[in-house]
Amino acid sequence: MAKHTVTLIPGDGIGPEITGAMRRIVEATGVDIAWEVVDAGAGVVEQYGTPLPQHVIDAVRRNGVAIKGPITTPVGGGFRSVNVALRKALDLYVNLRPAFSIQGTGARYDDVDIVIVRENTEDLYAGIEFEQGTADTAELIEWVEAKGAGVIRPDSGISLKPISVTASARIVRWAFEYALANDRRKVTAVHKANILKYSDGLFLKVAREIAAEYEGQVEFEDRIVDATCMGLVLRPSDFDVMVLPNLYGDIVSDLAAGLVGGLGMAPGANIGMDCAVFEPVHGSAPKYTGKDMANPTAEILSAALMLDHLGERDAAARILGSVRAVLAAGDSVTYDIKRTNTGSTEGCVGTQAYADAVIAGL
Ligand code: NAI
Repeated sequence: MAKHTVTLIPGDGIGPEITGAMRRIVEATGVDIAWEVVDAGAGVVEQYGTPLPQHVIDAVRRNGVAIKGPITTPVGGGFRSVNVALRKALDLYVNLRPAFSIQGTGARYDDVDIVIVRENTEDLYAGIEFEQGTADTAELIEWVEAKGAGVIRPDSGISLKPISVTASARIVRWAFEYALANDRRKVTAVHKANILKYSDGLFLKVAREIAAEYEGQVEFEDRIVDATCMGLVLRPSDFDVMVLPNLYGDIVSDLAAGLVGGLGMAPGANIGMDCAVFEPVHGSAPKYTGKDMANPTAEILSAALMLDHLGERDAAARILGSVRAVLAAGDSVTYDIKRTNTGSTEGCVGTQAYADAVIAGL
């Protein structure tokens, strides 16, 4: 029996190509993985009546670890995003988004090494919304006024921002445990507690309580989200591990990706108590489907994160080292990197040739 069994969801668009490249590289490290390949997305709707069949969820749960390619969200198809549905079904409450500088990618900074830990289940993204002009919204507006809580214009739409002790505690604790396990020096909690006293204020209060348990082991600071954004652009090396509620986490993690070369370089993971799903941050880039052009780096770096998670740190480090070397050399790189570095795509290589170069450098 293989040492690890991993669910592989190739996805659609460029997904099958970049996951194919990733799989070859992981296998070339010699790590003993059995892949259980399952499909999700628009392509399986006809067969199963849903883009996220139950057996896909069951496979991730059974194996505990999955890696996926991007999946297209059909516009107006009546289905939610498969990605969001998977996170909900498996209660993947952590969104892990490392952002680190890699030479040769046109990044603005060469000294960024940030790990962003984003809460994935609540906040303004909880999906609790009241549409403008409906009876429910009018009732809610009346109720708020009757409680003396404030006046809301009658032609408003409303989205709720729930922040709980439970979700805040588990995400902050996860960030500290990650910092400890990965020899990180500091955790920064990001919020707007000066204005949003009962939601972000609660997040901050809980963060301080959890931080006290780690005193002497990991440093703690808190920052207001607007000042954080400025600080990240001015001096990103000030930041180490960052923990944020859902909305700020979404925005700040893309900002951090922009500091280190954009979404094509950004790996990610969604992690819960029992399972973890690794995936690049970018989407399915439909216009490049089947052209052997897409940059598989974010998918490959997601695999390195996965190998770390599986305890295969040596294989993860070898992959990262080889990716760094290939990008720094700049010869065998995909069109997007070539264009960033030289202003033209001339001399670029395809997805699989880039993967071959990474394999050769392992
Ligand atoms: P996208 O990330 O697919 O594309 C944005 C731009 O970046 C495009 O110009 C695209 O061609 C380029 N690009 C993206 N990845 C690339 C790569 N690896 N190599 C080279 N170029 C790359 O975002 P978009 O167009 O907003 O979304 C397309 C579809 O993907 C949508 O249906 C969206 O819902 C879905 N999506 C899925 C995600 C997931 O599965 N986790 C995440 C984000 C979007």
